[in-house]
Amino acid sequence: MRNAIDGHAGYSILTPAERAAVLNAIDTCSAVLEIGTFQGTTVSEWAKRRPMASFLSVDNFSWVGDGSRRENIGRWIDNQQPNMRLFVGTVQELFDFCSYFPHLDLVIVDGDHSYQACKKDLATAKALLRIGGTIAVHDYATDNPSLCGVTKAVDEFCAEYHVSIHHTKGTVAFIQC
Ligand SMILES: C[S@@+](CC[C@H](N)C(=O)[O-])C[C@H]1O[C@@H](n2cnc3c(N)ncnc32)[C@H](O)[C@@H]1O
Repeated sequence: MRNAIDGHAGYSILTPAERAAVLNAIDTCSAVLEIGTFQGTTVSEWAKRRPMASFLSVDNFSWVGDGSRRENIGRWIDNQQPNMRLFVGTVQELFDFCSYFPHLDLVIVDGDHSYQACKKDLATAKALLRIGGTIAVHDYATDNPSLCGVTKAVDEFCAEYHVSIHHTKGTVAFIQC
């Protein structure tokens, strides 16, 4: 799905309702990590609307949509707000590179949608999160069969870590940790 956002370059993969639900969760956050930023269109809208929060986006730009890697990184830079930073790589590489983080309030997981990778991203997200923080996962319980690994990964993650889905909006599941 492609959703243009006024005043931002490129397009968002999240629907307006999904973006609004995440924006609502950001309300009380000061540190937010986004795994899978694509063109930075979505995070740019959040960063603009929540100027007091800091946003770190992680993407290895392995998926390019209908553009190129260079175009997507260029759009991300066009979308950059003063409170947005980008790490090019995986979240595991980020973690290895700099294992100390201030504890994050919210991690948005929308990177590699395979079961194995999503499970790994969820575990890393949990390690980066403060107690009581939230993980928002896009494409949970979607009817797109190629993305069903996300649902399996989330359900297993919740069972293994004894955490649960607080609520969902569209295909975004908000896990209270
Ligand atoms: C569906 S798009 C993200 C859409 C974005 N959140 C938005 O709202 O527009 C998935 C992104 O995850 C990135 N990605 C895929 N595998 C990844 C990985 N292992 N680590 C980091 N990013 C990854 C892709 O390059 C792509 O930009």
